[in-house]
Amino acid sequence: MSGAVLLVAAAGVVVVLAFLLLLYIVLPVSSPKTMPLSGAHVVVTGGSSGIGKCVAIECFKQGAFITLIARNECRLLEAKKEIEKFSVNDKQVVHYISLDVSKDAANVERALKQAQEKLGPVDMLVNCAGTSINGKFEDIDISKFEQLMAINYLGSVYPTRAVVTTMKERRRGRIVFVSSQAGQVGLFGYTAYSSTKFALRGLAEALQMEVKPYNIYVTVAYPPDTDTPGFAEESQTKILETKLISETSSVCKPDHVARIIVKDAVQGKFASSVGTDGHMLTILTGGMSPISSLAEALQALIFLGFFRLLALYYIAGFDSIVRRCMAKKEKSEKTD
Ligand SMILES: NC(=O)c1ccc[n+]([C@@H]2O[C@H](COP(=O)([O-])OP(=O)(O)OC[C@H]3O[C@@H](n4cnc5c(N)ncnc54)[C@H](OP(=O)(O)O)[C@@H]3O)[C@@H](O)[C@H]2O)c1
Repeated sequence: MSGAVLLVAAAGVVVVLAFLLLLYIVLPVSSPKTMPLSGAHVVVTGGSSGIGKCVAIECFKQGAFITLIARNECRLLEAKKEIEKFSVNDKQVVHYISLDVSKDAANVERALKQAQEKLGPVDMLVNCAGTSINGKFEDIDISKFEQLMAINYLGSVYPTRAVVTTMKERRRGRIVFVSSQAGQVGLFGYTAYSSTKFALRGLAEALQMEVKPYNIYVTVAYPPDTDTPGFAEESQTKILETKLISETSSVCKPDHVARIIVKDAVQGKFASSVGTDGHMLTILTGGMSPISSLAEALQALIFLGFFRLLALYYIAGFDSIVRRCMAKKEKSEKTD
């Protein structure tokens, strides 16, 4: 009996080693080459605030030329002035366009054409414009589901459509979609928000397969809770269940999140995550997402089972938070 077990274990080890050898042979061939940002034209939607602004600063520090896109012109001008302080050479320019990326694809295309006429073809597009709504499914106005899908999903589709053809012709480019950890796991209060962020992942996976032969690499960023004006605004109206679940992890600084997004995009990494929770979620939800290095494949193989166990613990904890909130509410309704 023990001999048979040993034989199965040995066969298992051989299969895993053979698989790793195969990955080792195949991966270096398809691994993306780093794309330096010095002199590159980087467009950041949502670049006037929070994570987007920090992404623009990080790219500017690496020598890029920047186009910021957002709606409010005053905030764009303020962001431009702030970013310009980080120049590394006197040729660098920060250009901005006041534009709603969620409306009128033709208008978005025109605006990006204008940006390319000013600063040259787009080397990297960071789709960061987005917003969030929190509330119970039945309490969120139906129009909000439509608005959120327009901003968070279509607001990434339109700019991407406007640059992808030129990127394919040039056989060069990076496209970043800023999703969220709520785009990896659906949580209480995020029925409207999570679906828009999950949609970005589907878009990114399919697009990556189409554009990889043209040397274009897609990155999906899954930031955790991050200390930004958008996060502060959302926190004011967060329902109790979401608040308590959010408090089980810490809030990150936007410059830290931005540095990781830019580094991963430059390296052509598909999934960009922050911190231990983030890496755990990315491995757990990896599915058939592209991988860009042997290290990534190894981590997934080694940690998947352990992370699944840990996830069960988290899920049980979240369920318990929801049950306690409900019991508290019922008790206070009875006493009223
Ligand atoms: N902060 C977090 O905890 C967190 C966590 C995970 C993911 N994210 C995601 O990260 C991205 C940035 O979030 P943030 O917290 O940095 O947000 P933020 O501080 O509120 O900044 C949002 C940016 O998007 C722009 N924007 C919003 N709607 C737009 C539209 N229709 N057209 C063009 N620009 C628009 C805003 O400028 P205007 O209002 O002037 O247009 C602003 O520049 C979002 O996609 C968000 O979902 C954030």
